[in-house]
Amino acid sequence: MPSRKTHWEQVYSSKRPEEVSWHQASPKLSLALIEATGLGQATRLLDVGGGASRLVDALLDRGYRQISVLDISAAALDHARTRLGERAGQVRWHEADATAFDLGHEVDIWHDRAVFHFLTDPADRAAYIGRVDRHLSPGGQAIIAAFAPDGPEQCSNLPVMRYNAEALTEILGTRFRLIETRAEQHLTPGGTRQPFLYHRVCRR
Ligand SMILES: C[S@@+](CC[C@H](N)C(=O)[O-])C[C@H]1O[C@@H](n2cnc3c(N)ncnc32)[C@H](O)[C@@H]1O
Repeated sequence: MPSRKTHWEQVYSSKRPEEVSWHQASPKLSLALIEATGLGQATRLLDVGGGASRLVDALLDRGYRQISVLDISAAALDHARTRLGERAGQVRWHEADATAFDLGHEVDIWHDRAVFHFLTDPADRAAYIGRVDRHLSPGGQAIIAAFAPDGPEQCSNLPVMRYNAEALTEILGTRFRLIETRAEQHLTPGGTRQPFLYHRVCRR
């Protein structure tokens, strides 16, 4: 088994960002949930495992100015930076593992689409949740999108966990409270439908 980092570097070095199964031309539901936080454009937002996602482009278009994107793959972040050109300088980029990093500051919105669900080892999940706990500001909210219970069992040839609201709430623990869950049928570039659930949580 290649390491987690080697796996993702290979993926982003061998495929164009528009070819990967999780590609979205427009991350509409993420944007809707970020807006639903009511926290506004001055908010500090972290896209965890953002990869080459276009969410950062859409946030810059909407006036968000305190955006950080973190990913384990340098190649993924390079794709995003190249696409953004000069605007890449308005974003903070972090090449790091979501289970072991410290930004050195809090964030008001933690966004994760299709990253937490790769953590199949309980110790990794606990480490990730510890990072949420460490980084989320007192009034902050986290948006975690994962495959729904009827979603695929694998993504990028890796096994994934699938969550409904109850399972996610239980795993996050008593320090967090679920605000809402919304469903999305993601259509992959290959034309396959993948059921996702997006969960928005806050601190208790
Ligand atoms: C399925 S992709 C989703 C990318 C992006 N969130 C999106 O919606 O387009 C999973 C992403 O998580 C990154 N990733 C996987 N495991 C990670 C980890 N432990 N820490 C940080 N990033 C990770 C991968 O490099 C990849 O960019």
